[in-house]
Formats: sequence, structure tokens, C-alpha cells
Amino acid sequence: MTEAARVLPFPETPPPARGASAVLCGLGTWLPSRVVTNADIASRLDTSEEWIRGRTGIRERRVVDPGVSTSDLAVEAGQRALKSADLDHVDAVVLATTTPDHPCPATAPEVAHRIGLERAAAFDVNAVCTGFLYGLASGAGLIATGVAERVLVIGADTFSTIVDPASRTTAAIFGDGAGAVVLRAGAPHELGALGPFDLGSDGQDADLITVPSGGSRQRSTHEPPEPGSEFFQMEGRTVFRKAIYQMSGSAQNVLRKAGLGLRDVDRFVIHQANIRIVNGVADMLGQPVAKFVRNIGEVGNTAAASVPLAMASACESGELRAGQRVLLGAFGGGLTWGATLLRWPDIEAM
Ligand code: COA
Repeated sequence: MTEAARVLPFPETPPPARGASAVLCGLGTWLPSRVVTNADIASRLDTSEEWIRGRTGIRERRVVDPGVSTSDLAVEAGQRALKSADLDHVDAVVLATTTPDHPCPATAPEVAHRIGLERAAAFDVNAVCTGFLYGLASGAGLIATGVAERVLVIGADTFSTIVDPASRTTAAIFGDGAGAVVLRAGAPHELGALGPFDLGSDGQDADLITVPSGGSRQRSTHEPPEPGSEFFQMEGRTVFRKAIYQMSGSAQNVLRKAGLGLRDVDRFVIHQANIRIVNGVADMLGQPVAKFVRNIGEVGNTAAASVPLAMASACESGELRAGQRVLLGAFGGGLTWGATLLRWPDIEAM
């Protein structure tokens, strides 16, 4: 086929309406099959099963096999989300990730192509562990402005590829995984309609969570990177405090914007960074911990995949039921944070 024949003609699609709400109508996830237990980590690093479980709530995590990348997980989760929504096409793919397949280009176009979503707009969003919330807001924006009628939002990360294998702190916390949702244009009163959103950042604290080398700041020096600077680094104790403070603040902001109170929320699905962070947010908000979904024990901190994986596990267990008011929240590197609201739709997670 000639290049012109491949590119033309463009399909005639009616322009989507502007001002629509984004309605969550499909949910899919994917985890690598390889399980790494706390005992596995304790067998090679100066830590113990009890320390990891007691200080983080994590019992095990999934890790990709050699050669498996973020796009591989994203494709699987994206396909499952489309199946859950009973759709075979979307107009845009937003991939939230901090571990793209390559520094350039973005990973989303390849993911879209491999799912068979030809011509869909596709781009990556990097807001570290808040990436999925930023991705949802981006998808909702594409729908509200009439750019897209249906959007696939994927959160996928392979932190095992950037974590220092010799660091007992980070190696114990992170796991790999992917989760995806389909958003469609709809009305604000529908089950699954997202919004309002609260998003924020504080770049003053960019150094608290960072991969120091590999970007233009280091490469423009033309000096070799400092040993170990290609790995993920974080100030755990400070991040811990800020995560509780900012996720609590963002939850309150989004409720204020919606004209709702904390008692109107049936379930909180927040970033699974550490079970003590989830408990800390519940405490700061004065809410029972039973309202907070938790799946960190089985998957660890999966960064951009954390919120959709937690949604899917609660959907499968029946903890999330159609009609419940759900608050989604996250916090991550940048620093970044965000929250949004929805009434849970009648969907099956795949
Ligand atoms: N095993 C045993 N000891 C460990 C350890 C491990 N895996 N990791 C840290 N320690 C040690 C520390 O070296 C420290 O020892 P010291 O007192 O002799 O200096 C001690 O345990 C306490 O360290 P501290 O950092 O105060 O522990 P903590 O209770 O805050 O737990 C984290 C550490 C990393 C688990 C916790 O701070 C955390 O979860 N932070 C947020 C992480 C996160 O999810 N970030 C991603 C972005 S949201």
C-alpha cells in the first residue's frame, strides 16, 4: 500500500458534543505472574518479613520477567478495560507512567497501536503515583472539550526497572502492574460520572522523589552519571508525612467543590503507598478505616496503577457497589496530588 493510500481517506466522524461529563464505563487490570514475597526480599537484603509487613502492610508484590516492559502490561489492562466497557474503539489513549518503554517517544501511541486503536490520539502523562488521577482529569478534559467521545485511561508502571535492587527501603515497597478505565461522554447525574477534580503540585519538593540522572539536567553536563543516580530515590520519612497531609487536603478540597461532606462518601480509594499512610489519611479526616479500600498487601505500591488496581480488587470483592459515592485520591513525586468523585457504576472489572 502506498503511504497516501494508508493515510487517506480520513473516516467521517460526527463532532462530539462539548461540555459532556466523563462517565467511567469499563475497568481492566493486569499483573505480572511472578510473585516476590517479603521472605524473598529478606533473603537478599538487610530486612525482615516482619519489618516490611509491619511498617508497610505489604506481604508480596508482582514483578515483571526480564524483557517485559510497561507497554506490555498497559496493553493487557487496556484490552480488558475495553472488554469490560463492551467497546472496541476509543478516540484517545492517555497512559500515566513514570517508567515508559523509552525516554522518547511516548509509550501511549505504541500501546494504542497494539490494542488496535488506529488513529486514536495517544500521549503519556507523568505525575508519578498521582499519574492515574492526572490521566483521568486529562481524559475528562478531552471529553468536555469535544475532542474525544471515548477515552482509554491507563495507569501502568514497572518500578522494578528503576528501583535500586540494593535498597531495602524501595525494593520492599514497589511492585509492577497496570490498571485501565474507559471514559465515555455522558451526563453528570449518571452513575460513573467523574468530577469535580482537585489537582495540585509543589515543585519545591521535587528532590524528595526522584531518579537523579538520565534526563537533560544530568546529560547536558556531558559527565558520566554518579553511580546509583539512575535509580529511584526517595526521602521516605518526609514523603510519608506529606502524603497523609496532601491526600487529606485534596479529599477535603474536592468535597468542598462538590458541595458534599465526608459523611457523604461511602468508600475512599486512595493511592496504596503504605498501609500506615492510608490509616493516617483516615485518621486525619476522622473517617473509619473500614471505608478505605486496601489491596497493598498483595501488590505493594504500584505507582500509576495503584488506584485502578485498588478499584478493581474492591469491585471484585463486592466492597464497591453500584450507586456508592466513591472518592479517588493520590499523591506522588513532583510533588503532585489529586482527588475526584464518582458514584460507582454498574460494571464488571476484567
Ligand atoms: N527493613 C528494615 N529496616 C528498615 C527498612 C527495611 N526495609 N527500611 C528502612 N529501615 C530502617 C531505617 O534505616 C531506619 O533505621 P534508623 O532508625 O537506624 O535510621 C528505621 O528503619 C526507620 O526508618 P524510617 O524511614 O523512619 O521508617 P518508616 O517507618 O518511615 O518506614 C518507609 C519507611 C519508606 C516504609 C516509609 O517512610 C514510607 O512508606 N514512606 C512513603 C513511601 C512511598 O510510598 N513513597 C512513594 C510515593 S507516594
